[in-house]
Amino acid sequence: MTIKQTIQEQSQKLKEITHIPAKEVEILIGHLLNKNTIWLHLNYHQEFEQQKELEKLIQKRATHYPLEYLIGKASFYGEIFYTKKGVLIPRPETELLVEHAITCLNNLPKKPKRVLEIGVGSGVISIMLALLVENIEIVGIDINPIALQLAKENALKHNVLDKINFIQSDLFDNVVGDFDMVISNPPYIANEYILPHNVKYEPHNALFAGEVGDELLKQIIVQTHQRNIPYLFCEMGYDQKPSLSQFLKQFSTNKVEFYKDYAQFDRGFWVEFNH
Ligand SMILES: C[S@@+](CC[C@H](N)C(=O)[O-])C[C@H]1O[C@@H](n2cnc3c(N)ncnc32)[C@H](O)[C@@H]1O
Repeated sequence: MTIKQTIQEQSQKLKEITHIPAKEVEILIGHLLNKNTIWLHLNYHQEFEQQKELEKLIQKRATHYPLEYLIGKASFYGEIFYTKKGVLIPRPETELLVEHAITCLNNLPKKPKRVLEIGVGSGVISIMLALLVENIEIVGIDINPIALQLAKENALKHNVLDKINFIQSDLFDNVVGDFDMVISNPPYIANEYILPHNVKYEPHNALFAGEVGDELLKQIIVQTHQRNIPYLFCEMGYDQKPSLSQFLKQFSTNKVEFYKDYAQFDRGFWVEFNH
């Protein structure tokens, strides 16, 4: 069977779980052959011989198992990062958090710029900051050792391992030193929330934060303030703006701004504390 026929046949099995079944089969074939999409399109009429391996991947994908775990990579901010089961898959909306933080860091006169990331996961936020901000030193922490290992591998892949110090820590527990900014995309989902099928395969301690969902965000706000760190940039749930803006009123701040994601949902905020 040719590559083209295989795509036509196998994509029928993914119709229920994705709106781009043929594209996903192409990606899986490309993964098995270690070839990119252009190569596949130029070689559509070649025989495809790894039918058994592909069927295994398709069967798994048909259970909503994430494509990014099957192929071991995901794209973020135009770059490719390794992914691994046990670590959250990076989401496009988190690119906005990175963008807001970069604007702020580039306007800071102080050098080097010292940033703490809470909950590095695959490392995408810290690595993009290390790539895009000059003279930056980053400490990236997570409670999950699998995430820290993956983040290190991604930092090595992007050649920024010397700019990021990865540490296992529960929030600020093992963090020492001064920082100009804390950045975090922490777990912010309420424990009772029913996850979509695909997200069920991702680590629960990367997603759920407590009964209400904003518990970790509130701890991060309090601890960032206690440590006299001037800037805090966070992603949050689409319905958390009212509770978080109310919570932030107890602190003396120069600025509090909320931002929306690509779908126009409230998705994050940044604060400049007035210490
Ligand atoms: C939503 S994921 C974000 C991962 C990555 N920064 C990204 O944006 O793709 C949240 C991360 O926070 C970590 N985490 C959860 N609770 C934590 C805690 N108390 N202290 C430090 N990290 C924590 C999780 O292990 C997970 O990697």
